[in-house]
Order: sequence, then C-alpha cells, then structure tokens
Amino acid sequence: MENPKLGYFLIISSMLITVATAGPTWSHSIRRGKKQITTLHFYVHDVRGGPNATLYAVARAPITADSPTSFGQINVFDDLVTAEPDINSPEVARVQGTTTSADLRVRAVSMNINFFITAGEFNGSTISIVGRNAVFEAERELPVVGGTRAFRNARGYAITKSYSNDAATNYSVIEYTIYVTSTKV
Ligand SMILES: *[C@@H]1O[C@H](CO)[C@@H](O)[C@H](O)[C@H]1NC(C)=O
Ligand SMILES: *[C@@H]1O[C@H](CO)[C@@H](O)[C@H](O)[C@H]1NC(C)=O
Ligand SMILES: *[C@@H]1O[C@H](CO)[C@@H](O)[C@H](O)[C@H]1NC(C)=O
Repeated sequence: MENPKLGYFLIISSMLITVATAGPTWSHSIRRGKKQITTLHFYVHDVRGGPNATLYAVARAPITADSPTSFGQINVFDDLVTAEPDINSPEVARVQGTTTSADLRVRAVSMNINFFITAGEFNGSTISIVGRNAVFEAERELPVVGGTRAFRNARGYAITKSYSNDAATNYSVIEYTIYVTSTKV
C-alpha cells in the first residue's frame, strides 16, 4: 500500500461495513456503522371494486364530478403488498393511507401513505411517504419522509410505476422500489 493513510482507512471501512445476511428477494440492506441502507422492491394491489375491494372513496368536492382531474376526490386504502406481481403470492406488507386528487390541470394526487412491513427481518417496521404522484406518468418519484423501528430517521425516495391495470374490474398492480437510509440511535 503506497499511501499508509489510505490503507488504514480501507481496513477500518471494511470493519465497519457489515453486509446483512442474504435476505428475501424483495429487501436488501447493508449497514455502515449506525447507518442502514435498504432497498425494497414489491407490488401493490389496488382493488377499487368488487367484493374484495381495499380502496374506498371517502369525500368529494363540489367540483369533483365536473373536474377532468377529479379534483377534490379523497380515497382511503389498505392495499396488499407482495414480492411478486401475482396477487396470490405471499404478503410482505400492507400500504395504508389516503390520496387526494389535488391538481386542477393534470391527474395528480397528493399521497399520505405508510408501508407497514409484515414479513421478513423488517416485520413491524413502517416507512412513510408523502408527496405528489402524477399517476399517468410512466415513472414517478415520491419522497420517503420517515419511518419506525428498523427505519427510524428514514430518508430516501421511492420510484413507482404502473405494472398492470384492468379497467373492467378496477384492479391495478403498482410496482414500488424504495431506497431508504435509516439510523440506529
Ligand atoms: C369500476 O369503477 C367504475 C367507475 O368508478 C364503476 O362505475 C364500476 O361499477 C366499477 N366496477 C366494478 C366491478 O367495481
Ligand atoms: C375475493 O377473495 C376470495 C378469498 O380470497 C377469493 O376466493 C375470490 O376469488 C375473490 N374474488 C374476486 C372477485 O377477486
Ligand atoms: C410479524 O410480526 C407479528 C407481530 O409480532 C407476528 O404476529 C407475525 O407472525 C410476524 N410475521 C412474520 C411473517 O414473521
């Protein structure tokens, strides 16, 4: 090692970096000291109609019915989250919260949602997302604003895309990849 300071730094760094035990396909985590960097990848099942609906409308504004963007529509949901796109694959989380159609010009919702992890090493932890979601754009970015337990002091972002949509049954599958840094305190 030509630079002794660099050699020392590399040895200390490799001591601090502990790669978490190989987990399930939908979650990957590494630890650097007190910092944990996690990637989560899964599918949200948005069932808006039929006997197994998990999303309901709760309120509308006087202009919602005439608005091209459904302005003022508020929905609440408790959607199933699975590691695979198939709705019959095992549950890994629920995503619970509300969306408000809050854009007068294009279809975009203001989201207030919590991912509640129900499987694996992060079972019982939550990740909170608040942000603007322009639902007809191919790829949307949403801010992670906080979390609990494994995700205390969480910061990060989520990339979300529509995976499939069945207008006849009001059922869509939405893909989420969440990149989150949290800190053990
Ligand atoms: C799907 O949604 C539309 C519009 O909200 C509604 O008219 C229709 O009855 C719904 N279909 C089912 C199967 O829930
Ligand atoms: C509703 O859920 C039940 C129980 O999981 C299932 O058997 C049924 O096929 C579902 N119905 C629809 C329309 O998805
Ligand atoms: C997740 O945690 C809950 C509450 O502690 C427990 O009942 C459940 O069995 C756990 N699920 C898994 C898949 O570990």
